Amino acid sequence: MEKKEQLYEGKAKKVFATDDPTLVIVDYKDDATAFNGEKRGTIAGKGVINNVMSDHMFQLLEQQGVPTHFVRQLSDRETLVKKVAIVPLEVIVRNISAGSFSKRYGVREGIVFDAPTFELSYKNDDLGDPLLNDDHAVALGLATRAELAQIRDMALRVDAVMQRYFDTLGVTLVDFKLEFGKTADGTIVLADEISPDTCRLWDKATGEKLDKDRFRRDLGGVEQAYQEIMKRIMGQGETTDREK
Ligand code: TMP
Ligand code: ASP
Repeated sequence: MEKKEQLYEGKAKKVFATDDPTLVIVDYKDDATAFNGEKRGTIAGKGVINNVMSDHMFQLLEQQGVPTHFVRQLSDRETLVKKVAIVPLEVIVRNISAGSFSKRYGVREGIVFDAPTFELSYKNDDLGDPLLNDDHAVALGLATRAELAQIRDMALRVDAVMQRYFDTLGVTLVDFKLEFGKTADGTIVLADEISPDTCRLWDKATGEKLDKDRFRRDLGGVEQAYQEIMKRIMGQGETTDREK
């Protein structure tokens, strides 16, 4: 698959055209930002880990009936994906209080919810990704009611699959952010990435943070945390192979 012109460069990834108009190549960078780009840095090896982990998660989710943009991995930093129009929503599912939820509602981090919460932000850096509800999303023309219902169902299914999976790795899935895209025929698929940049992952035994909060909050051990998650994901793959 030939890599053609660059279509887009985001904070963590670049997107390139291919000779097939329905497919693009995502190229993951080591660049890290936080607080809407105010804090900048690099996390050595992050691009490789986020690429490999995202592809692993997308394949797991496909097996569990969640359609995604994934086509195939091309190299350690590059993946071939279906070309989609990203729905400009950040879809956040939370199982445990943390981050902006704790800040906004004035509660400690670590409260385990009886059921997951589903929340939407308007994906708009100029506005700082403001929180919005379904009515707002429809009024702004970001998605239809039917699309929002489908996105909610898919996000909660992703949560169920991922919670179960991370539990087997000794990791608690606290919360995560998803993005969805629409293919040319209007089908909604899971897109973007699933990585320690976009999930909060806490060690089940110690509560240690194994995600981008180490970078956001200057906790140190950032690279080690990403590597630890990668090691557990890959280790599990080996176990599964041996069990076959
Ligand atoms: P929050 O608590 O800061 O709203 O973050 C919720 C989840 O979303 C957390 O797992 C980190 C992820 N996230 C992103 O992927 N991108 C972002 O820009 C932000 C703010 C959060
Ligand atoms: N979206 C944030 C930023 O732009 C990144 C984050 O906190 O995950 O810099």
